[in-house]
Amino acid sequence: MCGIIGCVGRDAETLDVLLSGLDSLEYRGYDSAGVALANGSVAVEKREGELGHLKNAVAAGGDTSDLRGPAGIGHTRWSTHGPPSDENAHPHTDCAGEVAVVHNGIIENYDELKADLLDAGHEFDSDTDSEVVPHLVEDALADGATPEEAFRAAVARLEGSYALAAVFGDSEAILATREGSPLVLGVADNAAYLASDVPAFLEYTDRVVYLDDGEFARLESGSWTVTDREGRLLEKSVSRVEWDAEQTAKSGYDHYMLKEIHEQPQALRKCLRGRVDELTGTVDVDALAGLAAESVQFVACGTSYHAALFGAQSLREAGVPAQAFLASEYATSPPPVSDGTLVVGITQSGETADTLSALREAKNRGVETLAMTNVVGSTASRECDRTLFIRAGPEIGVAATKTFSSQVVACNLLSASLAEQGDARDVVEALRDLPGQVQEILDSSRAEQVAERFVYSEGYFFIGRGHHHPVALEGALKMKEITYEHAEGFPAGELKHGPLALVTSETPVFAVVTGRGEKATKTIGNVKEVEARDAPVVAVTDGVSEVERYADAVLEIPETHPRVAPVLANVQLQLVAYFVAKQLGRSIDKPRNLAKSVTVE
Ligand code: F6R
Repeated sequence: MCGIIGCVGRDAETLDVLLSGLDSLEYRGYDSAGVALANGSVAVEKREGELGHLKNAVAAGGDTSDLRGPAGIGHTRWSTHGPPSDENAHPHTDCAGEVAVVHNGIIENYDELKADLLDAGHEFDSDTDSEVVPHLVEDALADGATPEEAFRAAVARLEGSYALAAVFGDSEAILATREGSPLVLGVADNAAYLASDVPAFLEYTDRVVYLDDGEFARLESGSWTVTDREGRLLEKSVSRVEWDAEQTAKSGYDHYMLKEIHEQPQALRKCLRGRVDELTGTVDVDALAGLAAESVQFVACGTSYHAALFGAQSLREAGVPAQAFLASEYATSPPPVSDGTLVVGITQSGETADTLSALREAKNRGVETLAMTNVVGSTASRECDRTLFIRAGPEIGVAATKTFSSQVVACNLLSASLAEQGDARDVVEALRDLPGQVQEILDSSRAEQVAERFVYSEGYFFIGRGHHHPVALEGALKMKEITYEHAEGFPAGELKHGPLALVTSETPVFAVVTGRGEKATKTIGNVKEVEARDAPVVAVTDGVSEVERYADAVLEIPETHPRVAPVLANVQLQLVAYFVAKQLGRSIDKPRNLAKSVTVE
């Protein structure tokens, strides 16, 4: 979703820093981009479409371009109000071209603000809600306010969610604020940066300051300040981010997604480090110390919701009543809570608006909240009572891969911590072997051949029972989001209650079956049902149940504990989706219409 970058103090390099920051924010999803630099006046360039369009336009300006100056802001826009176009791209300016503003989020009262501004004679160039901001600033400047006073006055009139940054023609400062949308400052000796996400400036500094809602930042060459709504100076701490620029590069892989799939062994080791004691078979997670929940409600979206389904199931098995809710539905009919309820928000980014809003709903109802997230300093981590970091490292590909695996492992840690009586030893042993087993799959997977065989299918179905139900859903989600082909996942038993009508010889069915026992036997029964309809079956299996006897192709996984097997099965499905998408020539890291971080509800 929209990305903001700002930079002050880099003089002749400002434009390059902004463009490279926009490159790093591409993964969030966007459909237009632009920059504005302040140098006596404000110079703006913006273009619909890929960043390349903006870069070509900038290059066309050549040496005579007025896109120069010590302070600048840039933006990648993901359309909400008005279609993608040059006019709707940010930055937006006032009538006089004295101030340029970039905005993430939604200004809910823009209709009424715009009507007032039009009445007062302002002229608008775009359909966006964002453009009201520079015009409000212009009004305040006309009344004699300083740039900072004018910015604050404009912000005071806004309702909704926003991260905003502004540059002024006659000032060398960048002013910024946030309310419900992410914004982080990067500080260095002679320069300062701001962005929606750390990778945008990580090349230049690893020292960051997280802005909170309602705070205002002023960035100048060599100095920065943060103040509250009333203008009082705040003491903000400077944190060091552990990620480095190398982690956010493709490092020789064709796509971030493939790189991130291959990073899973390392990510899982990090998730487990210092949290499990292999000798005693116990789990000891600082973030969960003293936690004694009587019941757990998970809230999450998309892939994180699939991890939540797994988490709820594994907690129930550990004797703790637990349910998973789609975050966007949680508030519509909130489930009963009691003093002992824990609400867990699973969110890779920690910025997903639906999940944040469900967590806030839980807080309002007075229950304890836990964020399970990948991003240090994210809104979820700052708003929840506790945070369990999944430590997967930066995930740039829009499709979540390594973070799902780490979320499933973190859910195992949570259920082992809350379990009334422990079978944690078995799980801990299995978790210890997990990174090596994922590596085995990465080294030997036949997913590429399976993808070649089924690439021109009419659709793809995924089935699994119990812990493999979330894997079936996740396998289908991955397939549809990066291949643009129809794919659906079901609990295996549901297939015959409707979806079977869609199963033909042109629709391969991926069946996840591990271990032995009733679940495996019943799923094999479902496999036979689809086989009888001539559908090709791809078994994702550890070979224990011998489901491969009924399969047209097999993706093998090592044998492990049932609560760990979903991670292994899912790696094979990630690879199949990746290779199908690659053969179809899709935009794997940035699928159409999707954004990495969905900051609007
Ligand atoms: C799918 C995907 C999305 C996210 C969802 C929640 O590959 O990435 O479905 O899982 O938008 O995002 P987070 O986890 O950041 O809250």
